[in-house]
Amino acid sequence: MDYLNKYKIDEMLENYLAKETGECTRLQEAMRYSVLQGGKRIRPILMRLAYEAVGGTGNIAPYMCAIEFVHTYSLIHDDLPAMDNDALRRGLPTNHVKFDEATAILAGDGLLTLAFEIMLQDLVSDMDPAKAIAANILATGAGASGMVLGQMYDMFYEGKEISIEMLEKIQLNKTGALIKSALKMGAVLGYGSESELFALELYGIYLGKVFQIIDDILDITGQVNELGKDIGSDSKNKKVTYTSFFSVDQCYEIAAELTAKAIKCLDKVNGDTSLLKEIAQDLLNRRR
Ligand code: IPE
Ligand code: IPE
Ligand code: MG
Ligand code: MG
Ligand code: MG
Repeated sequence: MDYLNKYKIDEMLENYLAKETGECTRLQEAMRYSVLQGGKRIRPILMRLAYEAVGGTGNIAPYMCAIEFVHTYSLIHDDLPAMDNDALRRGLPTNHVKFDEATAILAGDGLLTLAFEIMLQDLVSDMDPAKAIAANILATGAGASGMVLGQMYDMFYEGKEISIEMLEKIQLNKTGALIKSALKMGAVLGYGSESELFALELYGIYLGKVFQIIDDILDITGQVNELGKDIGSDSKNKKVTYTSFFSVDQCYEIAAELTAKAIKCLDKVNGDTSLLKEIAQDLLNRRR
């Protein structure tokens, strides 16, 4: 996955976090701890690749970092005792284990707010309407009709019998909404055409589904040292996942079909989509 290093996303993130000079070092430390301990950075990468695929050549660092901050906040909160109650994330103790619950909640709040602060700061200095639309896409994707809604359903349906349609709805929101937003934001920021925007959004929807199916599989078959999180979290929490309906092999088959559909969408995009194709394939075969 060479593209992981291509855009120096960790440096961008560090740069924004360094400017965050609040007076409570413990809070800053907790925010930095979860962001800078090495996630895959899939969402900012997808945003950048969509942006370039429609011809964008500028600097969209605030938007790329914003989505990673929102994603990291969602992980900190997802791991809390009141939610999935997990102890390992990105290869290290989860935020509330390393610090404490209140600090973890506030570090998440800080990151979520910082995401919108850096986008709005950028907008103040350059009133590009595409940037306002991109920030709005992130707000919608992250909030109570997107990721937060998905997380609510995910918690609510723990231990209950649900249909596959309901499971898809949960996944479309809890994981799909941010991934789809990444693609849409990139396409909008790069002034892609209507049909490119639609194609990249659909690619994002398929990719989001694949991403969560593989996440569910890895919760059973993954190696903790590669995955960076404990396995068995879903069964511990009585989550309904794809593996509740299908065998691991069948899940891989479904994920492969969805990946092919995602890649097909890219035919409608004019620019170079080779890395978007590669990333789709890599996400199907990922082990972390
Ligand atoms: C994990 O996301 C949570 C889900 C949405 C499934 P990632 O697998 O992208 O986590 P990091 O960012 O690489 O740690
Ligand atoms: C979480 O899904 C999706 C989020 C919005 C954070 P999971 O609960 O399956 O993610 P992991 O497995 O803990 O990373
Ligand atoms: Mg969860
Ligand atoms: Mg979890
Ligand atoms: Mg999971």
